[in-house]
Amino acid sequence: MKIDANTELYCLIGHPVSKSLSPFIHNTSFEENGLNAKYMVFDVKPNDLRKAIDGIKALGIKGFNVTIPHKIEIIKYLDDISKESKLIGAVNTVKNDNGKLIGYNTDGLGFIKSLKVHDVVVKRKKVLILGAGGAAHAIAMMLAKEGANEIIILNRTEKKAKKLIEKIKNIYPNIKGRYGGLNSREINYQDVDIIINCTSIGMYPNSNQSPIKKNNLNKNMLVYDIVYKPRITKLLKDAEEKGCKVIGGLDMLLYQAILSEEIWFKQIFDINSIKLNMNKKEF
Ligand code: ATR
Repeated sequence: MKIDANTELYCLIGHPVSKSLSPFIHNTSFEENGLNAKYMVFDVKPNDLRKAIDGIKALGIKGFNVTIPHKIEIIKYLDDISKESKLIGAVNTVKNDNGKLIGYNTDGLGFIKSLKVHDVVVKRKKVLILGAGGAAHAIAMMLAKEGANEIIILNRTEKKAKKLIEKIKNIYPNIKGRYGGLNSREINYQDVDIIINCTSIGMYPNSNQSPIKKNNLNKNMLVYDIVYKPRITKLLKDAEEKGCKVIGGLDMLLYQAILSEEIWFKQIFDINSIKLNMNKKEF
């Protein structure tokens, strides 16, 4: 679709953003769906966030994604936020509704959607989350909302894991919550149903690293790695060798993007054509 006077602009704001896959995903989707829209990336430093928001409003940019480090800070510039954003405490998608900026969070919802597509049930499950950063936050909150029975959070910086468990227990007092350092010896890994890596361990170029020892995995587990580069991380390789069901990070990335588009355009999109294009592209 050629750019003309009616082309709508969508974008990502964050810092740094030069490696983002979002322009590829959204522009492919816009093209596939015949939308007269384009998606750009803007590197916005923390001190410039307010000016960037003013610019977005003045230029009539229809919607945007927000990434590190603005996901929390953005909230004070918005007119309203969704209940998921309130629960998670962060926004990754904003719709410009005739000058009113409404914030949403599709990270956690994208993750849950990708589980559902793989027929994974969360209710009453024991879940082990590795990491306690932004992604772990969104995922842990949504797993609690979905009715997980127990959530264990292990993180290099243990006090961040403790804080996240406290936050979850504050909202969902009946959930069993535990925390510890990575590869903690105090955790019984044996009966964990789902393991999710939310750390950057194993991400290219450190592709030979895994956040968890292989002998802590067993065939009854589902292992999900939100790292998508490489597609099959060391963790997923280990898990496959142990006979676990595995899911890679590309699904979450695509579903959070598609859910953003559903918010902006109020129509349902299909991820399969984007996936096909993605498979053709080296990244
Ligand atoms: P994101 O939004 O992707 O979650 P983040 O908020 O920066 O990014 O969180 C990164 C996570 O990866 C954190 O849990 C971080 O651990 P710390 O809280 O101790 O910083 C974890 N992480 C990153 N690099 C790591 C490494 N080399 N070893 C262990 N954990 C690491």
